[in-house]
Amino acid sequence: MKKYQTLLEKIRDYFPAPTSDKMHDAYFVSTIMHALDQLDEMKGTAPVLGKHENIDYSKSSKEKIPENLSRVEDTVSRIVEYACGLEIWGHPNTQTNVIPPATIPSIVGKLISSTCNANIIWDEYSHRFALAEVEASGMLCDLIGYELDKSCGVFTFGGTGTNLYGVYAGIMKAIPDAKKKGIREDVRVFTSECGHYSLMNVVSWLGIGIDNLISIETSRDNDMRIDRLEEELEETISSGVKVGCVVATMGTTDAFGIDDLKEIIKVRDKMVGEFDLDYVPHVHADAVIGWVWSVFNDYDFSNNPLEFSKRTLRSINDSREKIKYLHLADSTGVDFHKTGYGPYISSAFLVKNRSDLEPLYRKQDDMPYLYQFGEYHPGMFTLECSRAADGPMAALANLRLLGREGYRVIIGHVVEMAEILRERFESFNFIHVLNDYNLGPVTLFRVYPEGIDDATMFYSKEVSDPGFSEILKKHNKYNRAIFEFTHKEAMLGRGVTLSLTECYRKTTYSEPEEIPILAIKSFIMSPFTDENAIQAVADKVLEAREHTQME
Ligand SMILES: Cc1ncc(COP(=O)(O)O)c(C=O)c1O
Repeated sequence: MKKYQTLLEKIRDYFPAPTSDKMHDAYFVSTIMHALDQLDEMKGTAPVLGKHENIDYSKSSKEKIPENLSRVEDTVSRIVEYACGLEIWGHPNTQTNVIPPATIPSIVGKLISSTCNANIIWDEYSHRFALAEVEASGMLCDLIGYELDKSCGVFTFGGTGTNLYGVYAGIMKAIPDAKKKGIREDVRVFTSECGHYSLMNVVSWLGIGIDNLISIETSRDNDMRIDRLEEELEETISSGVKVGCVVATMGTTDAFGIDDLKEIIKVRDKMVGEFDLDYVPHVHADAVIGWVWSVFNDYDFSNNPLEFSKRTLRSINDSREKIKYLHLADSTGVDFHKTGYGPYISSAFLVKNRSDLEPLYRKQDDMPYLYQFGEYHPGMFTLECSRAADGPMAALANLRLLGREGYRVIIGHVVEMAEILRERFESFNFIHVLNDYNLGPVTLFRVYPEGIDDATMFYSKEVSDPGFSEILKKHNKYNRAIFEFTHKEAMLGRGVTLSLTECYRKTTYSEPEEIPILAIKSFIMSPFTDENAIQAVADKVLEAREHTQME
């Protein structure tokens, strides 16, 4: 045997067996088992795998590719080490952000699509994996109330991707020859000031420009002010500028604000009539966080079969009252790697009318090497050429596993826990809950030092009175210190991981300067979070307050 052939024999064992070989399958499984054992050894009481240490990135960037082969076992063991120091998203004491733990079937969905290495550019390279995309999209369209014989969906690269598709579909309506000629005129995209920053990427990468992304003021509930939207649309259209898209945020990143989609659609339709527009401005719902509340659209709120508490029921119902209008949006973005409890990345872009995708199609002649046969050709219009099947597989696994009931239980639980936390905070006169009208699993709060015994009143002064600007800045610093204390403690296994937003909103005044208001954030996502974890947040915040001095 030639030297290379000896090595090739070894290398063949690195791959899953191409023909039936139970022994080799067992080896594959035991490799995964070892990886899981190694992860298990990293678990302790803290919500973090192993120890969270500082990383020397500059040293790491100088790593060299090895000269020779390594053993599978050694490689896997080294690869698993990269999990060390990461937070455990499912830990009861993790309340960091909108990051879920992934269910076992959704992980297996991803594993299987990787093992078979399907590419859902077309069904020829994915066959039944393509079906997973069609089924998962269909279930989602049905869930939010799109008509199944008119709607469809494709998976893409994250919530950002869903926003990109939404805005692009809108541009195709407003400027039909933009695909060929480029965007040669000003076109504006509207969202609320609480809309996600990914829209900035979208407008700049699409060549629309950040100056043409119009941020509409929000109410104190963090939803878009409809009167302001109407004014801005009127001003834009009457000045001859086209409306590329209106993006409604259905569950904002920081505070779970939900836009009034029904009113947004009304205003859009009014504009079409008033200005006799020859196109209908596209309305995209960025529901990557809020979509899952649709499982409550047909929940029996009067009999409350899942026995949620009154407070939780009211919260969920209030959110549902807005989410139930998702079916009015021309397109909708859904993330499973947020409130769908799937692994990164699993995002679906849904359109109410398939015909909205037609302008996105390229000609078959431009792609002579693909799509000659088969029946499912999403790659003819998707941005991505190669498309992993892991997103749809993970999504489908969870939709089948949890169904409406499972999602109702998880979402009901995290909202219930957040309600208990808010109730606890409300009993302290030195803590103010900022998003007290946004009723999801996220709680934003500010802690005030000794001497301030009406936090709510003090906060309202900080927001609106320029005379309080210096103290507002000091309290921003104070809250950062409180957060840092709790974070350090959590990493040592004492307490709960929280997060921070530098700018929950800005002061209502801008003279002499507009000041961002910092807030500490508890985002409950783990089904394992319980009342002990909630007590731990309250206890740690009190302890942090005792240890923290105002500068
Ligand atoms: C409301 C909203 N839209 C879009 C995004 C972007 O999603 P992704 O990070 O998956 O690209 C986020 C991310 O947090 C978000 O909160």
